Amino acid sequence: MSQSNLNLAGLKVLVVDDTPTNLAILRQTLEPEGYKLFFANSGEKAIEIATKNLPDLILLDVMMPGIDGFETCNRLKNQTETKNIPIIFVTAKTEMEDIIEGFEKGGVDYILKPFQQREVCVRVRTHLELSELRKNLEQKVQERTQQLNDSRLEIVRRLGKAAEFKDNETGLHVIRMSQYSALLGKAYGMSDEECEMLLNASPMHDVGKIGIPDRVLLKPGKLNDEEWEIMKTHAEMGAEILSEGTSEVLKMSQTVAITHHERWDGSGYPKGLKGEEIPLVGRIVTIADVFDALTSERPYKKAWSVEDAIKVLEEESGKHFDPSLVPLFKEILPQVLEIKERFCEPESSED
Ligand SMILES: [Fe+2]
Ligand SMILES: [Fe+2]
Repeated sequence: MSQSNLNLAGLKVLVVDDTPTNLAILRQTLEPEGYKLFFANSGEKAIEIATKNLPDLILLDVMMPGIDGFETCNRLKNQTETKNIPIIFVTAKTEMEDIIEGFEKGGVDYILKPFQQREVCVRVRTHLELSELRKNLEQKVQERTQQLNDSRLEIVRRLGKAAEFKDNETGLHVIRMSQYSALLGKAYGMSDEECEMLLNASPMHDVGKIGIPDRVLLKPGKLNDEEWEIMKTHAEMGAEILSEGTSEVLKMSQTVAITHHERWDGSGYPKGLKGEEIPLVGRIVTIADVFDALTSERPYKKAWSVEDAIKVLEEESGKHFDPSLVPLFKEILPQVLEIKERFCEPESSED
């Protein structure tokens, strides 16, 4: 196998042995390789130094007074900071059982005493290389995953923007209602990760309006029955648009799109789902969406006061809205109003 061109000089190697002569030999062996060396003459000391300096590799003697090498390894493997440091056992014991125990404790390799200096050098180099390659790989995977998530989010945002162009709602509506949704999810006990996902998924709730003809969507007056039926198809159309999504955020946005007009008492659309048949994220977004619609000015109506909007939430608790969510929404009202303030519509809405 060809030598890799990884630069290993400067990597940290901790050498543990209770016999000073062995430490001296190992120093002599490894120093020319350019590693930064640390030494410990007991298991306790080794753990202390490893935790503090986080070496890239540990050469660990097995038989030592106090805690032996296996126990030392055990403890290092049980600490998050040190658990991934590769450990090579250096042992005089030749019985196969001990060697197996070493591997079971999490060692990556072993060297038998008395050792050949050359062998020590090669094994140390091999394991440092493997571990460096693994670290690089992990970092690459992390970077790529981040890029992938970013581009998914980007697509989701742009799709949401496309819907806004068709609607008479402003872009600020989806910003506010998605923030309210995430806050309400948090208050309900959703994890930070789920709340973040809801924040990104809820702006898509009305994406199906892309498929509603302008004569209906942009009609200034009240919709007649036929037009209203067409308008209602936006929930299913949105779910259809989002249906091929494989990412969690797209799946959640599909759920939100199809359920954000369902009502707790079963009188909503498109399916007439009732109570907890409606997914939680749908029930959350419903409240956030309606509250923002009520408290915002629209071409066909003035903005309602916060008090009046809250009154509607209370009156409709258990009818339109999940009765366990309405009190939570009132609890987070101060934060909701902060967001409302921060993302309020500009004075002139005629642009
Ligand atoms: Fe809608
Ligand atoms: Fe909306």
